[in-house]
Amino acid sequence: MKKKALIFGVTGQDGAYLSKFLLKKNYVVHGVKRKTSLINTKRIDDIYEEPNKKKKSFFLHFGDVIDYGSVFNLITTIKPDEIYNLSAQSHVAVSFEIPEYTANTNALGALRILEVIKNFNKKIKFYQAGTSELFGKVQEIPQNENTKFYPRSPYAVSKLFAHWITVNYREAHDIFAANGILFNHESPLRGETFVTQKIVKGLVKIKLGHREKLLLGNIYSKRDWGHAQDYVEGMWKILQQRKPKDYVLATGKTFTVKYFIKKVSEKLNLKLVWKGKGLKEKAYLNGKPVIEINKRYFRPSEVDLLIGDARKARKELNWKPKKNLDSIIDDMIFYEKKNFNGK
Ligand code: NAP
Ligand code: GDD
Repeated sequence: MKKKALIFGVTGQDGAYLSKFLLKKNYVVHGVKRKTSLINTKRIDDIYEEPNKKKKSFFLHFGDVIDYGSVFNLITTIKPDEIYNLSAQSHVAVSFEIPEYTANTNALGALRILEVIKNFNKKIKFYQAGTSELFGKVQEIPQNENTKFYPRSPYAVSKLFAHWITVNYREAHDIFAANGILFNHESPLRGETFVTQKIVKGLVKIKLGHREKLLLGNIYSKRDWGHAQDYVEGMWKILQQRKPKDYVLATGKTFTVKYFIKKVSEKLNLKLVWKGKGLKEKAYLNGKPVIEINKRYFRPSEVDLLIGDARKARKELNWKPKKNLDSIIDDMIFYEKKNFNGK
């Protein structure tokens, strides 16, 4: 019998890569999509299967983790072997504007799924999409599974609840529930408002003469960026262990946002010249400002530095990232150029 996986958050960056990964592993994959006014399945359209197809392996269902009824119905009718909870209001800056919605989705969403597992079938394995944002104002460099958490946003605080409720259901109810504490991971499928994608899209458009300016916030924060494709493999490996445990997935390298801009502009052969400081700092191309710093993209409290120590995952999961920053950027630029439609 094929294994059955249920993915909450299937329409997101990681949901798309994980679906493809699990289908290759011969799983039957069920994904949960939200009802939205515009179709939101762009990232998974390439694996869509006709409803009448015999031996279908990929199914989509409407649902929402803030709706307990839908969570209950999905789990009890699909009867999955593994559940991956990737659903989230995942934008840190946005979480300052809609904190309650963020908490409802990210914190209580995880709890709702765990409650159904507890009451319906404790054998279902559960993966919770945890985050390096938990480390926030970092208490140690680099950060590993034992580093103290210090969340710095409503997003991170909501994920802190999800982290501990996952641990609690594992310990209290003997459920195979595990957290992946994942550092930033990017790809051509990254959401457009996250900084890497914003930079790649913005600079490609500037290069092609379809845009004049890119506005950014804090370009001095440092992130440990990996590739989403590598990280979904780690998620799966976490659920294949004999015992449920929490793991950091990271590259162990950190770079500033400004360095990321430098790499992208070099690859596009854009000769940027930086001048000014603070909010007046600008990057010029042929004497014209093309990147400016704008206050609206700063966060009320920032996470200045993230760098992960993934030695536990390396040792116990035999996991390590295959793609470095250069290949992540190459991948993103290639896709952006190929799919650029003049808008
Ligand atoms: P993403 O692209 O923003 O995807 C989030 C997914 O959650 C989307 O499918 C979204 O649906 C869905 N969703 C949002 N609210 C929902 C709700 N109320 N009910 C059901 N589904 C809902 O995020 P990602 O980058 O793939 O990240 C996946 C998960 O890993 C998230 O939980 C994120 O917080 C976490 N994480 C990400 C990173 C990273 O660097 N990417 C690092 C650490 C942790 P729509 O498509 O309809 O919006
Ligand atoms: N989004 C955005 N837009 N970020 C900017 C901008 C901008 O215009 N300018 C500078 N930044 C800075 C942010 O202040 C932050 O320090 C850094 O770029 C990265 O921002 P994001 O790409 O939005 O990612 P994030 O690190 O806040 O959060 C992502 O990674 C987390 C894991 O550490 C998200 O994917 C989270 O869901 C995930 O948990």
